[in-house]
Amino acid sequence: MDLTITNLTKKFDNFTAVDNINVTMTTGVYGLLGVNGAGKTTLMRMLCTLLRPTEGKITCNGKDILAMDGDYRKILGYLPQDFGFYPEFTVKDYLLYISSIKGIKPIVAKKRVRELVAKVGLQKAFNKKMKNLSGGMKRRVGIAQAMLNNPQILILDEPTAGLDPNERIRFRNLISELAEERLVLLSTHIVSDVEYIANEILLMKDGQLIHKGTVVDLINSMKEYVWVCHVEKNMVQNLSQKNKVSNIKSDVNGVELRIISKDKPVEKATRENATLEDVFLYYFGEKAGVNNGTI
Ligand SMILES: Nc1ncnc2c1ncn2[C@@H]1O[C@H](COP(=O)(O)OP(=O)(O)O)[C@@H](O)[C@H]1O
Ligand SMILES: [Mg+2]
Repeated sequence: MDLTITNLTKKFDNFTAVDNINVTMTTGVYGLLGVNGAGKTTLMRMLCTLLRPTEGKITCNGKDILAMDGDYRKILGYLPQDFGFYPEFTVKDYLLYISSIKGIKPIVAKKRVRELVAKVGLQKAFNKKMKNLSGGMKRRVGIAQAMLNNPQILILDEPTAGLDPNERIRFRNLISELAEERLVLLSTHIVSDVEYIANEILLMKDGQLIHKGTVVDLINSMKEYVWVCHVEKNMVQNLSQKNKVSNIKSDVNGVELRIISKDKPVEKATRENATLEDVFLYYFGEKAGVNNGTI
């Protein structure tokens, strides 16, 4: 199974939200990584046929997804970023309700709902009302509803938003399991969400796909750019104006800086191995939300 995006562009009036994207995806986890406003949701909505491209096309096994229409939606599961739910519904009723909307026969739906609730670890919450679930539990219900039709393509828009660290780990394990037999595309602005589970990372910035590759590829692409140096406090401002600083640690003797730069930032700096956080900072700068040097 492959999903191929060709010259895909989406404009809202004169504003280009998705700018000429080309990529092919197959089975496995793809992490769509970018800061807010990068165009992730717009791209995903086109992949779900909820938005029409301004230019370009998306094909599944060579067929245009818009022409496939219902046949495409049969193999697609989607968890929207603003996943709406019905607060008074129990988990069971909600999932049965969505099954009926998706045209799944009641007898099939009943079995499927039970299987999925077990898969996402919500057996104990089966008869609880949606409004009484934690953020992580709601997201798991969201994943379960996207999985009702056992989709070959599963699209999850910021599925980890608002999860606590334990829920994140649980979630990562679930995604890895689900991706054994399907394509999972998930968007996030949090590097650690995709660092360990994504087979490929798609870096998106200002509507463009600026880099695509495995975590190792991305890290190798800036192998020689990461430096660590220990400096006096009064040098920090100057250094962080000239360079991208990914970490600052103060101690009694001064400050340790982790700097991303093609050239050696100060004479005594030593090279360090890059991490995906460094890559993210390199491409997204201050927008990545990393300390930018003011201490
Ligand atoms: N319906 C719309 N009309 C106008 N602008 C939009 C619309 N949807 C998204 N945008 C703009 O497109 C850009 C990308 O948005 P979005 O796809 O939601 O990014 P992300 O999901 O990466 O945060 C943003 O600048 C956003 O304001
Ligand atoms: Mg979004």
